[in-house]
Amino acid sequence: MAETHSDILVVEKLTKVFGGLTANEDISFTIPHGAICGLIGPNGAGKSTLFKTLLGVHKPTRGRILFDGRDISGDSQQQRCRQGLCCTFQIAESFNDLSILEAVMVGAYSRASRRAEARAMAREAIAAVGIAEWEHLRYSELNVYLRKKAELATALATQPRLLLLDELFAGCSHQEIGELIGLIDALNRGRGITFIIVEHVLHVIMSLCARVIVLESGRILEVGGPREIATSPAVLSAYLGEDYDADEHQKFGR
Ligand SMILES: Nc1ncnc2c1ncn2[C@@H]1O[C@H](COP(=O)(O)OP(=O)(O)OP(=O)(O)O)[C@@H](O)[C@H]1O
Ligand SMILES: [Mg+2]
Repeated sequence: MAETHSDILVVEKLTKVFGGLTANEDISFTIPHGAICGLIGPNGAGKSTLFKTLLGVHKPTRGRILFDGRDISGDSQQQRCRQGLCCTFQIAESFNDLSILEAVMVGAYSRASRRAEARAMAREAIAAVGIAEWEHLRYSELNVYLRKKAELATALATQPRLLLLDELFAGCSHQEIGELIGLIDALNRGRGITFIIVEHVLHVIMSLCARVIVLESGRILEVGGPREIATSPAVLSAYLGEDYDADEHQKFGR
């Protein structure tokens, strides 16, 4: 696949096999700098596996990952994070006693070496997602929406250039989803952060993404604009359902 300076990510023939199960097979695509790209498909299609391989949680069985033109396939998660490839991660149970500020500082420590510096970086990320007034709340006290925003702030505190969101919007109300869409759009436009978004809430994908990759059974089924995807017979049959109303989502188009 042709690689250009305009691509922050180039994925070449990526395959991940678990025992007898091929979770990702021969996956190739490119993501331009500054894009917001959607990754959709049925349960078990291999979306989270692909993210984990990109992040260095899984070692690819075959294939290569280039980040900003450099082969990172052998790099650790920490090395990838320092280069700017990061995800929102669910805060572990053991973090329940931490405040939002302390949890976000964990993200900041991927770059900062001193406490004051980590705190300043964390505060900046917390302000960026609009939850400064709650920074002292314990994680265990947070509702789903605040938790999601705190997770986003933790990822932002690592200063990402490419941020992977795996079902960040799950469990949020329609209004909260609208606000999160606005926030992702602002982070993309204001900070130039590139996003890949895995989401079953389709209007998130249709609102934000110029390009959508559809996975099915570990393989790429289709790549295209949201409108193309929403009207593709193969995608309708494999995932969206034959009665999916593409016009319903047209109004969100970027
Ligand atoms: N660590 C693992 N070991 C073995 N099999 C795995 C592992 N992780 C995922 N799988 C399998 O790989 C396939 C793809 O799973 P994956 O979690 O990537 O799907 P997904 O597209 O994220 O699904 P969902 O929409 O439900 O989150 C599934 O069959 C899953 O059971
Ligand atoms: Mg998943």
